[in-house]
Amino acid sequence: MAQEGAPKLSVRGLWKVFGHESTGGIVPDEIANKSKEDMREDDGAVLALKDVSFDVNEGETFVVMGLSGSGKSTLVRTLVRLIEPSYGQIIVDGDDILQYSEKELVDFRRRKTSMVFQHFGLLPHRSVLENAAWGLEVQNIPKAKRLQIARETLDLVGLSGWEDYRPGALSGGMQQRVGLARAIAADADILLMDEPFSGLDPLIRRDMQGELIRLQEHLHKTLIFITHDLAEALKLGTHIAIMRDGVVIQIGTGEEILEAPADDYVAEFVQDVRRTTVVTVRTIMDQPDLKLRQSTTPAVAMREMGQAGVVSAFVCDEEDHYLGMVSFNGAAEAKQRGDATIADAITVDEYPTLPADTSVESALPVVLEHHNEGALAVTDEEGVLVGTLLPSSVVGAMAQEAQDATDHREASAASLEASHADDQEEADGDGDSEAVDPREGMEVS
Ligand SMILES: Nc1ncnc2c1ncn2[C@@H]1O[C@H](COP(=O)(O)OP(=O)(O)OP(=O)(O)O)[C@@H](O)[C@H]1O
Ligand SMILES: [Mg+2]
Repeated sequence: MAQEGAPKLSVRGLWKVFGHESTGGIVPDEIANKSKEDMREDDGAVLALKDVSFDVNEGETFVVMGLSGSGKSTLVRTLVRLIEPSYGQIIVDGDDILQYSEKELVDFRRRKTSMVFQHFGLLPHRSVLENAAWGLEVQNIPKAKRLQIARETLDLVGLSGWEDYRPGALSGGMQQRVGLARAIAADADILLMDEPFSGLDPLIRRDMQGELIRLQEHLHKTLIFITHDLAEALKLGTHIAIMRDGVVIQIGTGEEILEAPADDYVAEFVQDVRRTTVVTVRTIMDQPDLKLRQSTTPAVAMREMGQAGVVSAFVCDEEDHYLGMVSFNGAAEAKQRGDATIADAITVDEYPTLPADTSVESALPVVLEHHNEGALAVTDEEGVLVGTLLPSSVVGAMAQEAQDATDHREASAASLEASHADDQEEADGDGDSEAVDPREGMEVS
């Protein structure tokens, strides 16, 4: 069994060399130190995964991103041993699945994992309903039961009414919904998706991304999602691993990757992303000037506000859960009423809270609407007050981004101009040499 708090899935030092026998054990030096090119030149072997390690937590969406040929499909297939890795460990719920017997492996694939493929992989001669029930069929779930589950799952992905059609009668986006339904119906803990949306039109693709986010909010599956699209990775991933030539070159949250790209390759990927769509308010928030407990007496609240030089303060319970604001006047009235605490002076309505993972861009309309109230409370998933947000911080971050974009455009324009000038000079140079009479300086015989 997995230990409490241990990752759902841990990959350690995973290698795949196509064209070599799978040997297991320690990676020999002659492989460890060889580049992909050298290996190919020496014996035609392809180094597809090189010393890959990462952890995936239960219930998260872990995205693997990289260009074509970087090893993403190889990686996701080795995770269920559809491709046997050459070296390394794959630990799922505490078991090294590379040690599994054939029977254990079949069981693992059927019950613990489910795959969604780029080209849907549906059975063309079976109905949508039977396709959705497929994962349960291979688990030998009785027919009535599996069809009932499949029906419910199709409803979940918005395909009620399509049960009796063949997949071919459905659009690409709908077929991929069947693919999703099949994976979800199987009730596996881990869903593996290899570029499931890259065959879809951009608008349908965006729909499907939204659909997956919605489903994941209530399913909390452990999801490993492959894509070559950074925008998709940022939208879906709780963590993102970036691969190049079989190597994982960076792992982090979208925000971490945008803020500190590991190298030029990653920087190139992220340069066109609008940061404010990804950077969260957690990054730009401040600490509250004054935080009061609801058990505070009105007199103490007034004194503390006076000392801090503020006219209102955030109020929390004993565990720091955010309750609302109290104004100096509110505290004064409570004192006059003879209240023992400020609890009845707390106002909540006009002070919305912002979840700490709200993007800066999504926070903008909220702070603009409430700019008269000053700083807004920023809370975590448990409702604990973690910071405060000033409208000026949000507007400042947006303005900075606009400025950076302008600078970037001007810099590109300048470098373009410079290279034009170079071309021109070269062209002029040629012209000059042509203008010179080639016979000049020659001895005329
Ligand atoms: N069966 C195989 N035999 C030999 N080489 C292979 C095999 N499968 C993949 N490769 C090679 O391994 C490398 C990684 O391929 P992989 O399919 O994992 O990349 P990918 O990131 O999924 O690319 P794409 O975005 O095009 O799907 C490539 O160089 C590929 O040519
Ligand atoms: Mg692939």
